[in-house]
Amino acid sequence: MTIAEIQNSFDAEIANCESLSQLQELKVKYLGKSGALTALLKSIKDLAPEERPTFGAKVNELRKRMEDTFALKADELATKEMTRRLREERVDISLTSCPDRGALHPVTLIENRICNLMIAMGFEVLSGPEIETDYYNFQALNIPYDHPARDMQDTFYITDRYLLRTQTSAMQARVMERKKPPLKIICPGKVFRSDNDASHSPVFHQIEGLVVDKNITLCDLKGTLEYIAANLFGPQTKVRFRPSFFPFTEPSVEVDLTCSNCGGKGCSLCKETGWIEVLGAGMVNPYVLENCGIDSNKYSGYAFGIGVERVAMIKYGIPDIRLFYENDQRFLKQFGK
Ligand code: PHE
Repeated sequence: MTIAEIQNSFDAEIANCESLSQLQELKVKYLGKSGALTALLKSIKDLAPEERPTFGAKVNELRKRMEDTFALKADELATKEMTRRLREERVDISLTSCPDRGALHPVTLIENRICNLMIAMGFEVLSGPEIETDYYNFQALNIPYDHPARDMQDTFYITDRYLLRTQTSAMQARVMERKKPPLKIICPGKVFRSDNDASHSPVFHQIEGLVVDKNITLCDLKGTLEYIAANLFGPQTKVRFRPSFFPFTEPSVEVDLTCSNCGGKGCSLCKETGWIEVLGAGMVNPYVLENCGIDSNKYSGYAFGIGVERVAMIKYGIPDIRLFYENDQRFLKQFGK
């Protein structure tokens, strides 16, 4: 091939070259060891000596031109490639809405909050079975077979002996049989009752608290509950004990808090009373202590059972307990941010 032929075919091929790998192939084809230009240089020996310098100069000129063209083309292709990738791999950073993130359920939030508070006060967290024996759920708690609290309407019986626990108090005797005082425990968990309306659900959550030691009094119970109430609803919250009855505590109390909505003045939430009932509690009945082999002359204790949903409903102003279990995202999204 002559210089002119090589130049023409090079010009044509480079014009059609569309990728860096093609360009590399062309480079080898023209400038490589067995490339066209090298072959031309080798043929210099066949020329007459006086023609050689001019020929050599021309070949070198072509080589220089080719090298410059390759460099330019390489630049051009690299830019093109970058533009293509920028277009194809474009990420729209204005799309800030990432996929929906999960959040803790309001019942879990309240349960965690109370548990963490109790842990900080030195309570141990224990959990017990949801399928419970009649003995731990009732008999050990001084609720004999004929007691109205075990009405068929309230309890999901599985067999005569087994049932779905109706209260976390079922853990009291389990714990006291195994551990001896001093005892300071809480048991969070699900409980079940055959009930279903705006304020009752067949399954809900309780946190049982139990302290047994020497010289435990109702004041210890009140102090602990005041501390929890202040943490949940603010330091201005007052705690009121009303006499009540549970077979496993003596004396027993219903515990009211000043209404967090009106601050105690009276509103529709507290039915104009200024107080909201939140839990049942009392001093562990000596019968229960003795049932579990604890000397009631030496030891006394208090127990309380907090309804987690109840606290969440008051805290977040939720009117219907069933909202907790329907998994409506519009509801759930409002918590746990
Ligand atoms: N277990 C009782 C209930 O579910 C609450 C309670 C717990 C009362 C501990 C006294 C002591 O209503």
